[in-house]
Amino acid sequence: MNPGRALTVLVVVAMLAALLLAALDATTRDRIARNQAQQLMATLQAVLPTDYDNEPHLDRAMIAVPDGPGGADALPVYRARLGDEPAGLVLTAVAPDGYVDAIRLLVGVGADDRVVGVRVIAHTETPGLGDGIDAARSDWILAFAGREAGAADPAWALRRDGGDFDQLSGATVTSRAVLNAVRRTLDYYRMNREALYALPSVDMD
Ligand SMILES: Cc1cc2nc3c(=O)[nH]c(=O)nc-3n(C[C@H](O)[C@H](O)[C@H](O)COP(=O)(O)O)c2cc1C
Repeated sequence: MNPGRALTVLVVVAMLAALLLAALDATTRDRIARNQAQQLMATLQAVLPTDYDNEPHLDRAMIAVPDGPGGADALPVYRARLGDEPAGLVLTAVAPDGYVDAIRLLVGVGADDRVVGVRVIAHTETPGLGDGIDAARSDWILAFAGREAGAADPAWALRRDGGDFDQLSGATVTSRAVLNAVRRTLDYYRMNREALYALPSVDMD
């Protein structure tokens, strides 16, 4: 093959390879986005009451938290509604003081102001110790369900701090960080309940 022809073949092959890579990249990104949306919907379902008729993962507003915990500057809140009436909402909480690093949580509260559930959505706590906050690893996080998000209550502390929450054994720091983040989030909820349901929704990125 003469050098000119070889060069042409090389260029064509390189262009085809680039096109193929671009197509693969787009497909992979689509699939990742779909998986993330599905995972979010499943977690929202776990922390919301069952009775609603909207799509909470799309009824999302952003709460600005300048210099917020763990470096976040805005945190999403998801609203569930039944016939346009509040049915429950899910706040994103960040515990900046995990043993290893910040812990990100979803805190679901029903229209009756009771906690429906709490789930950890991101953490890097130690396997076998702090990672018991993950519902897939232990039932510890289920202890929040059914609690009233009412007036500030000294019971909202670990037993060793005078409250009535058990801690994960060997993971006092992690347990305390999660408990405090949930308590702070519920304080915020109580003060902003109506405004949280009224915030305009913003599209997913
Ligand atoms: C390698 C290593 C990893 C640890 N990981 C965690 C953790 O993920 N969460 C946590 O609360 N404590 C963790 N600890 C234990 C803490 O140092 C501390 O002992 C524990 O939180 C119990 O606190 P207490 O002594 O006040 O009961 C870890 C300790 C070591 C040595």
